[in-house]
Amino acid sequence: MPAPEIRTIGVVGLGSMGTGIAQLAIEAGYETIGREVTDELGQQAHRRVAHFLQRKVDKERMSANDRQSALARLSLTTDLADLADCDLVIEAIVEDLGDKLALFSELDRVVRDDAILATNTSALSVTEIAASVAAPARVVGMHFFNPAPLMPLVEIVRAELSSDEAVEAAYAVGERMGKHPIRCNDTPGFVVNRVLIPLLNDCLRVLDEARVSPDDLDTAMTAGAGWPMGPCTLVDLVGIDVHVHASEALYEKLREPRMAPPPRIVAMKNAGLLGRKSGRGFYTYD
Ligand code: 3HC
Repeated sequence: MPAPEIRTIGVVGLGSMGTGIAQLAIEAGYETIGREVTDELGQQAHRRVAHFLQRKVDKERMSANDRQSALARLSLTTDLADLADCDLVIEAIVEDLGDKLALFSELDRVVRDDAILATNTSALSVTEIAASVAAPARVVGMHFFNPAPLMPLVEIVRAELSSDEAVEAAYAVGERMGKHPIRCNDTPGFVVNRVLIPLLNDCLRVLDEARVSPDDLDTAMTAGAGWPMGPCTLVDLVGIDVHVHASEALYEKLREPRMAPPPRIVAMKNAGLLGRKSGRGFYTYD
C-alpha cells in the first residue's frame, strides 16, 4: 500500500488528548476534522484550542493572523462519514478495547483504502485494534503525551502487520507537528508507559506506606528528584481513570505486581474522582 501524502487529518474523540492533537495538527498546517459525539463537546474542544492559541498570541509566540488561519483549518463534526476524505485519522476515544474495535471497523468502511488509521492508545495492543480492519497494514499507533501540545515525544508504534509506509508517514506527521517521534514496537506500554506506570504506582503506594500527604509526595519528587511535576499532580492531569486503565492493561499482560493499580486509586476512580477533568482527584480544581 503506497502511503498517501497527508493533507487532511481526522481526530476522533476530542477529550484532552484529542483536543491537543487537533491543535497540533492545525498548527502544523493540516486541514483537520475533529469528531465528537455531540456538537457541545466539539464546541468545548474548539474553545479550548482557541484559548491556548490566544495564549500563544499573548506571549508573542504566534501572530494573530496565524492563529486565525490555524483555527480556520479546524472543522467539527458528529458524523464519522465526514472523515471520508482524510488521509490520516487519529483515534483518541476512551480506553475501551470494544469501543475502539467498533470504531476502527466503522472507520475502515468510511475512509479511503489508502488512508492511514492511527490509535493514541496508552496501553492497549495496537495489533489487536488493527485486527478489526480489512487491511491491518494501514494501522499504527501514534501515542502522544499529556498535555499533547507541550510534551515533545510521540511514540510511533509498529503493530505486527503495520506497513513501513504507514509507520513512516505517521513519523513524518509527528515531525511536522514539531515533535520528537521515536519508532517502537507494539509491546505492552510501548516505551514510556512500560516504565512510567509502575513508577507512578510505586509513588502512590508510598503515600500510604510513608504516610505522607499528596502535596508532600509531590514536593519530594519535584524538589528531590527533579521531576517537572509531582506524581499526584501528574496522575490528576493524565486522569485517574486513564491511569487505572493503563495499569490494569499492563498488569493483565505482564503480571508484574508493580503494574497493578494501588487500591487507593481504584477507589478514587470508582468514586468519580478522576482528577482535573472531574474537578477533584488528589487535589481540587476550579
Ligand atoms: N494544551 C495546550 N496548551 C497548554 C496546555 C494544554 N493542555 N496546558 C498548558 N498549555 C499552555 C498554556 O498556554 C500555558 O501558558 P499559560 O498558563 O500562561 O496560559 C503554557 O502552555 C505553559 O504551561 P505551563 O506554564 O503549565 O508549562 P510548564 O512550563 O509548567 O510545563 C508541563 C508544563 C510541560 C506539563 C510540565 O509540567 C511537564 O513536563 N510535566 C510532566 C508531564 C508528563 O510527564 N506528561 C506525561 C504523562 S504520561 C502520558 O501522557 C501517557 C499517557 O498514555 C497516560
